[in-house]
Amino acid sequence: KGLRVSDKGFLNTAVIHSQITYIDGEAGVLRYRQVGYPIEQLALHSSHLETGYLLIYGALPSKAQLKLFESEVMHHSIVHADAENFFRSFRYDAHPMAMLTSAFAYLGSYYSEANPSLQGQNLFTKSDPASLANMDKQIYRLIGKATTLAAMAYRVRQGRDFVTPPSGLSYTGQFLYQMDHLGQEDYRPSPVLEKALDVLFLLHADHELNASATTVLQTGSSLVDPYSAIAAGCASLYGPLHGGANEAVIRMLISIGSPENVPAFLEAVKKREKVLSGFGHRVYKTSDPRSFIIRKTADEVFKVTGKDELLETAMALHDAAIKDDYFVSRRLAPNVDFWSGLIYRAMGFPYDFFPVLFAVPRVVGWLAHWRQMMLQEGGVKIWRPRQIYVGAAKRDYVPTEKRE
Ligand code: CMC
Repeated sequence: KGLRVSDKGFLNTAVIHSQITYIDGEAGVLRYRQVGYPIEQLALHSSHLETGYLLIYGALPSKAQLKLFESEVMHHSIVHADAENFFRSFRYDAHPMAMLTSAFAYLGSYYSEANPSLQGQNLFTKSDPASLANMDKQIYRLIGKATTLAAMAYRVRQGRDFVTPPSGLSYTGQFLYQMDHLGQEDYRPSPVLEKALDVLFLLHADHELNASATTVLQTGSSLVDPYSAIAAGCASLYGPLHGGANEAVIRMLISIGSPENVPAFLEAVKKREKVLSGFGHRVYKTSDPRSFIIRKTADEVFKVTGKDELLETAMALHDAAIKDDYFVSRRLAPNVDFWSGLIYRAMGFPYDFFPVLFAVPRVVGWLAHWRQMMLQEGGVKIWRPRQIYVGAAKRDYVPTEKRE
């Protein structure tokens, strides 16, 4: 009663005050945390875990804080051996995002101390140091185990045995190791690819209240455990309008086939028969700053892997779309997903694994939003929007034999 206007797609609805990520969509600016570290500086000088610490705790860590954070995350990277049976229970061709989404929820079943439903109270409150320590532990676990779960989804699809997370490597180094290790004792991932993946992870670490972060918060607002909230975020990310777009870009490029087919494809987009994946953004209306850094990273990767055969088609599509009035007038520019898929493909990942490579680094962003909401002044308020009912008025029940 009293509600007259709805906001389809939340174009003009703010649901929280946040200090985590600042975006200026008109100027193409992305900065992390309230003091506003520009994404370009972080990509150049920071690491994914350092940036994760910044996003979650609000300040860049001291040397000692970073060392402790990294060692806690790595310490928690091992998952219970029973998880092997869980992964083996999927069909041989299960989509890795279906596995990862389920795996986060599955993981929560191990940690009753993180589950308010089992403990009968909100476990994560600002005033209690034990509660904050409990929260930190779940954060370490979720970040640490994200790469291991993702690597398990990768290996089970290839029919390979699982690899215990190694010690002494960086976050992306141990992730690549877990995926690629084939038993060679001295195996080490390529340092160039390890660094490139770290930059890609950092660029994907957070992006304000996108669909998946919103889903994590809405789910978390019922005070469910953080594993279930992260699983919900992962499910939201899976869709082709969000984190599934990097996979959709490669499928689109394969279907286009070669540069001479680009004009016909763009005509089909204009007739709304196709979508130009990797273009457009709810907030960025001029450019996505991440896409420039990604293009530079792509060049570094291609030096090691060789150029991807789809690159020519991608360039032709990009160059034609940015000049085409249809896209210019709608302010549609390439987003982070347009180029990232080409890098992942060059690195040898199958394209249904690309959304996983978006989800794993986004765990730090989801956790930053979840922690901020749980600790906000006045506590959590359940996210329960309203609707405007436009269905039928009261009707009387008609028995089946009398229905038309
Ligand atoms: N191809 C063709 N037309 C498009 C596209 C596109 N990629 N994106 C938007 N449009 C059209 C849209 O149909 C609308 O046209 P009209 O005004 O004639 O009805 C107009 O452009 C304005 O759309 P919008 O309001 O800017 O779009 P939105 O904010 O509702 O949706 C989006 C944003 C990202 C879902 C959309 O641009 C899209 O579907 N892009 C393709 C999928 C994609 O690349 N997603 C990744 C986003 S970035 C990373 C992430 O967040 O996961």
